[in-house]
Amino acid sequence: MRKVNIGVLVSGSGSNLQAIIDQIEQERLPAEIKIVISNNPAAYALKRCSKHGIPTRVVSHLDFRKREAFDVKMASILKSYDVELVALAGFMRVLTLTFLRAFPMKVMNIHPALLPAFPGTHVQQKALEYGVKFSGCTVHFIDEGVDTGPIIIQAVVPVYDNDTVDTLSARIRKEEHRIYPLAIRFYAEGKLKIKGHKVLINGGGKDDLPALHNPSLT
Ligand code: GRF
Repeated sequence: MRKVNIGVLVSGSGSNLQAIIDQIEQERLPAEIKIVISNNPAAYALKRCSKHGIPTRVVSHLDFRKREAFDVKMASILKSYDVELVALAGFMRVLTLTFLRAFPMKVMNIHPALLPAFPGTHVQQKALEYGVKFSGCTVHFIDEGVDTGPIIIQAVVPVYDNDTVDTLSARIRKEEHRIYPLAIRFYAEGKLKIKGHKVLINGGGKDDLPALHNPSLT
């Protein structure tokens, strides 16, 4: 099977990057990480790369006066590594159209809420304050908006009365690590078709999921 060349953009810990690396190493994801770029030189994600022999670059946004110039630099590095699909994994910068035009509908992101609820930042806190009974995570393609692009896959987790930001984040994070590599696999296998704002997944799963209730009905 063909391997898709991916570039991963990070800013922090890189646990999602690690999940992608692990799936590739276990030969469950037909992809190769050609380059990881961090805008933060202290990102732990960079250390993860050195353990796995993955090339890295640091491009600090502070060195650029305009967002577009930063984006041009990022896109040119990714192109020079022959990257086809870009995966944002805890990358804390908003990308402009300049970047998106270089990779149209080829940039994915993972977000720790059930979009379109709770876009933006500090979303676990917002979910707790709102009192939702379920939250989760979303893998989506990036468009010009913030967290508004076509949704590829979501995972739902319950929210309990005694949850804190930490406990809820940990429950969500576990699911992030499952669905992000899976979304990339669907892409690599040519299963994703974008129709309007919808992503159709050819043979991606059975339509037999049960309803969830929180609190449970019994
Ligand atoms: C995750 O919660 C992800 O949903 C959000 O940023 C966080 C990144 O975590 N976009 P990590 O760096 O992958 O550990």
